[in-house]
Amino acid sequence: MKDILQELEDRRKTARLGGGQRRIDAQHAKGKLTARERIELLLDEGSFEEFDMFVAHRCTDFGMQEERPSGDGVVTGWGTINGRMVYVFSQDFTVFGGSLSETHAQKICKIMDMAVQNGAPVIGLNDSGGARIQEGVASLAGYAEVFQRNIMASGVVPQISVIMGPCAGGAVYSPAMTDFIFMVKDTSYMFVTGPDVVKTVTNEQVTAEELGGASTHTRKSSVADGAFENDVDALTEVRRLVDFLPLNNREKPPVRPFFDAPDRVEPSLDTLIPDNPNTPYDMKELIRKVADEGDFYEIQENFAKNILTGFIRLEGQSVGVVANQPMVLAGCLDIDASRKAARFVRFCDAFEIPILTFVDVPGFLPGTSQEYGGVIKHGAKLLFAYGEATVPKVTVITRKAYGGAYDVMASKHLRGDFNYAWPTAEIAVMGAKGAVEILYRSELGDGDKIAERTKDYEDRFANPFVAAEKGFVDEVVMPRNTRKRVNRAFASLRGKRLQNPWKKHDNIPL
Ligand code: HXC
Repeated sequence: MKDILQELEDRRKTARLGGGQRRIDAQHAKGKLTARERIELLLDEGSFEEFDMFVAHRCTDFGMQEERPSGDGVVTGWGTINGRMVYVFSQDFTVFGGSLSETHAQKICKIMDMAVQNGAPVIGLNDSGGARIQEGVASLAGYAEVFQRNIMASGVVPQISVIMGPCAGGAVYSPAMTDFIFMVKDTSYMFVTGPDVVKTVTNEQVTAEELGGASTHTRKSSVADGAFENDVDALTEVRRLVDFLPLNNREKPPVRPFFDAPDRVEPSLDTLIPDNPNTPYDMKELIRKVADEGDFYEIQENFAKNILTGFIRLEGQSVGVVANQPMVLAGCLDIDASRKAARFVRFCDAFEIPILTFVDVPGFLPGTSQEYGGVIKHGAKLLFAYGEATVPKVTVITRKAYGGAYDVMASKHLRGDFNYAWPTAEIAVMGAKGAVEILYRSELGDGDKIAERTKDYEDRFANPFVAAEKGFVDEVVMPRNTRKRVNRAFASLRGKRLQNPWKKHDNIPL
């Protein structure tokens, strides 16, 4: 009996060493943690329960039968984050470069199936050389099995990917179908074809970092939702994110204790809007002043900065925030901003997270690059996402709400539940200057007359009251009371039930 117990201990010890101390040291030398060290940091201490520690590959080609390390390059199981259950897989680069074999894929699929069945998020820590080259098509089949599960789990349980090393070729498509992708700066990269293939095919010379590093994917491609300095930071931030999310689409997000008066008055907000309507101000200030304890977890901070997306808590409850940012492109909607916000709105709606929208938008960005790029189709994504969302929707117009962008930004007409405006709101088809130039084209030579016409237009439309008269704005609120009003609005919506007509699925303009 004693020998058997000892054998278990010995086998566990060997399995925990993955590809061996030499390769662990090499991993550390690159500034990367091992698969197990990462899991320890991600989960509550001592909460990890491992599955399939002794699984080994079945490949016999290329002498592979001589080397069958326990675990086969991925550590899988479940544990808790602040007491709430999550499933996790963590690829072990020390075992065949974390490459994905048939059995490696089966381990991932097993925990994904359990996550969907038991209603808990899946967190994937990716660090892999891609398909296990020795296994050929068996490995490709393994990927496809994972892809299919990503698709089935989408909208059922939150899926989070952290890229902590290489992620190349078709392997990128599993993270790409998850809800959030985070990367580690300098040690991770994602691309469909690497620098060598790029050089051969297009003759472009580019480094792995330039092609698919954290900076590229958080600033240019928007493939990733955030980038962090190192493994420890990335895992800590994922823990923070999980705290905002429900475990699955049938549960409400968690409610946290809060230490911030729900009716806190913020007199400084009365002067947030500058006297000159064309002077920008920082919308993040408003978000932070409304949020519990000023905490704003931003998603896609470095992409399409003309729109802000992220999570806050109000009275301890998770709320998704979407806000135009007047500091960048005057807060215009463009292709990138529409795509970014639409995806965020859809995530919130899928997981019953209420949406708070702050509006200061002068319209859609004009220009050939926008039109040729399909701003019609991409702008429609955001319109569609807001319109189909059935979660509680509260909107506050702080300043401009012009043209089609007024409709798009969670207006009353798209089933906004509470549509507030500050006294500084201007709700109109367009700004005064543009309107007068069209309406009074024949008078353009006469400066005085045009100034008078402009003033008339401003007096008539540069306020929230025309919309309020029609009931398109439910109430004009004092800026200082925004937190209180928004809190009361969401509190009144806790029992909201709204269903869209039955359909197989919609046909959002992709
Ligand atoms: C088997 C692999 C492997 C792979 C790496 N290794 N990738 N073994 N299959 N795909 C092994 C190496 O042989 C080595 O073993 C160990 O992992 C570490 O690799 P190194 O090359 O020493 O590490 P490093 O210098 O850090 O380079 C990492 C790397 C490189 C950039 C990922 O290994 C690489 O280019 N690998 C091949 C990548 C690739 O082409 N994959 C297939 C992509 S196509 P030892 O024993 O020396 O420690 C694909 C299709 C997916 O993935 C399709 C899905 C639909």
